[in-house]
Amino acid sequence: MSTPLPPLRRRRVLGALAGSAALAGCAQTVPGGGAASGARIRIGVASCCDQTKPQPIWDAVLAEAPDFFVFAGDNVYASRQPFDVAELRAAYALQSRVANFQRLRSTLPHTAIWDDHDYGLNDGGADFAHREASKAAFVDFWQVPADDERHGRPGLNHVRWVEREGRRVQLIVLDARWWRSPLKRTDQRGAPGKERYVPDADSAKTMLGAEQWAWLEQRLREPADAHLVVSGVQLLAEGHGFESWSNLPLERERFFRTVKASGARGVVLASGDRHIGGLYQHAALDAGYALWEITSSGVTHPWTTANEPGPNRIGPLVRERHYGVVEFDFAAGELTLALRGEANQVLHAHSVPLAALQPA
Ligand SMILES: [Fe+2]
Repeated sequence: MSTPLPPLRRRRVLGALAGSAALAGCAQTVPGGGAASGARIRIGVASCCDQTKPQPIWDAVLAEAPDFFVFAGDNVYASRQPFDVAELRAAYALQSRVANFQRLRSTLPHTAIWDDHDYGLNDGGADFAHREASKAAFVDFWQVPADDERHGRPGLNHVRWVEREGRRVQLIVLDARWWRSPLKRTDQRGAPGKERYVPDADSAKTMLGAEQWAWLEQRLREPADAHLVVSGVQLLAEGHGFESWSNLPLERERFFRTVKASGARGVVLASGDRHIGGLYQHAALDAGYALWEITSSGVTHPWTTANEPGPNRIGPLVRERHYGVVEFDFAAGELTLALRGEANQVLHAHSVPLAALQPA
């Protein structure tokens, strides 16, 4: 288990983050702009979007106009059993008719990964029998290009690059469903801290699978100013017994060791799934430096009564509809993680010196 670091030395109000539409770009790689724009890269992230519910949050994302956007899973809901891929395709069809979502897709460069509800089985993993059919629906809806590597191999993990003015952020998008081993069920369903699952130190179990682990080890070694690692389920959060990397603690430790062995600096995490928003920090000594994570999970139906201890959480749970922004301000040498609401107001944010995101 981890030891939380002391509270951050700095916290700022994020007025400067608003009104940055001038930085919007429509290409995945954004060419360098004028000197006035500064070397900032802003990546939006959101998850848990029920296609049948109102989605005003996309208007806030459009107003913010980040450089890139990540749909971090549960992008539609179609996990009723017995699974029928026609229901998943119908969910995608309904989602594609949401006007502001459509606008976002057509104006912001973006990518996506699934979580359980668009994978097709609540809390599903490698044993979900229909994952190939789900994957086919996913690549159709998200218009994965014909020459994309995801067509030719299992899983949906992939990499994207977001570049501005010579700065490069590598987006490593993990697939925490395709290979994931069965989790150890709780003996006290609903009990605080062990609501659904309990940690399982079985070394034969995997979160990413051997193939994806090898891939991750290689990708983290690619030169970048920062690496934003996206996992549908939370990686750093502790103190609850829902799905997270804490269910497979050896795999989480392996992630930390993998970061350290790669020598990658500026590794930041983004996740979803939980129907709450939060910012997390983990001392992660095995990673070589303290890691940060933003959980952005509340497009349509946040868990408004959520309450959990969150030993690694910095600040409150965000329990209203929101999305997240990860801002790498290379000019100021600062990372800012922000959760924003329907009026694009900052609900919760924290800043960290980028210099802290590297081995001492
Ligand atoms: Fe989920």
